[in-house]
Amino acid sequence: MDFALTEEQKLTRQTAREFAMAEVLPQASKNDEEHRFPSDLVKRLAGLGFLGMAVPEAHGGAGLDTVSYVLAMEEISRACASTGVIMSVNNSLVCDPINKFGSDRQKREWLVPLAKGEILGCFALSEPEAGSDAAAQKTTARLVGDEWVISGTKNFITNAPNAQVTVLFAMNAPEKGYKGITAFVVPMNTKGVSLGPPDKKLGIRASQSCQIFLEDVRVKGDAVLGEVGGGFKVAMSTLDGGRIGIAAQALGIGRACLEDSLEYAKQRKTFGQPIAQHQAIQWKLADMATELEAARLLTWRAASLKDRGIRHSAESAMAKLLASDAANRAAREAVQIFGGYGYLADYPVERHLRDAKITEIYEGTSEIQRMVIAQKVLTDM
Ligand code: CAA
Repeated sequence: MDFALTEEQKLTRQTAREFAMAEVLPQASKNDEEHRFPSDLVKRLAGLGFLGMAVPEAHGGAGLDTVSYVLAMEEISRACASTGVIMSVNNSLVCDPINKFGSDRQKREWLVPLAKGEILGCFALSEPEAGSDAAAQKTTARLVGDEWVISGTKNFITNAPNAQVTVLFAMNAPEKGYKGITAFVVPMNTKGVSLGPPDKKLGIRASQSCQIFLEDVRVKGDAVLGEVGGGFKVAMSTLDGGRIGIAAQALGIGRACLEDSLEYAKQRKTFGQPIAQHQAIQWKLADMATELEAARLLTWRAASLKDRGIRHSAESAMAKLLASDAANRAAREAVQIFGGYGYLADYPVERHLRDAKITEIYEGTSEIQRMVIAQKVLTDM
């Protein structure tokens, strides 16, 4: 089994690492503290081709593979998890489904500027009463003449305050259950679309999310993404890719915890020696490194399956489950290693602890990942 990266993948990781450490990290704490959306960094990400990494060059993307994408996601998220999620939503949840299911017109009109990073997109699936139970959509889409009329409310929509377009899900035939859900590509400036105030969040505070209100929003038939009634499968297969991106985000947060802890443990002294010499601290560092490496291998495997066009629902779920768990444990241990200083906003590890938590919740909670994995285990064994 060969775990070696190609020269192109190594170069992508190196480019991302240099950019992350030189440009993203220096503003991460301040952006978090001020809940400031990093527009300047988003422009730089666009310039690097990091907002449409796996989109073919013919459609405005960088034409790289999913493995390169997760390498870059880990590096950017190691510096700032907020910047990481802004990037992952655009790549995984917006570019990817339009690339896979979009019409030629949708690709020309939306995918090209999204992949170039000229505009940002968001993914409007969750609702006040449809989070984990994604098929319980209350947002309706009625066909009136040649137009769809969409009404409802979407919740927790990452990038919505900064997006120009959304991949949106609505129920057009409730009697058909999940087969009555349709996906649409809807410009955010369409009449009837309005936004709630930005959500006040525990972590990833430099990325913005909010509610989207849809009041008799009218779009033409060519706004349908994929097939009428095929929206649930668009959502699920998109999330199979999205979960790899969030696994990589979690790896980045976990690595930040490990690297910050190593640096601190080498210079902080107790009982006459650096705390890195104490076995209690060494065991924590060893566990953090081991769990992150295991999660990294699962994440790379899921990405590689996606690149080879092999169904990877359970593998993505395993990667996200383990990586988010490892990141949260690493964050708790990092705060413990820093002791009292770890509890202060003057040091980065309290930010890592707050940022890590969301990776166990969005794009499917850890409980949902276990459901997806169990389904595969029960079928295959
Ligand atoms: N790919 C393709 N098709 C899939 C699929 C997949 N990954 N998963 C399920 N399907 C298909 C099934 O095959 C089935 O179709 P058939 O009947 O034709 O076989 C159909 O979809 C229904 O499947 P289920 O009965 O398994 O569906 P369910 O209603 O029980 O739901 C679930 C399954 C896994 C719980 C799903 O609802 C789920 O993933 N929930 C979590 C939702 C989620 O992750 N939300 C995140 C919101 S986005 C976000 O967080 C973004 C952000 O802020 C950054």
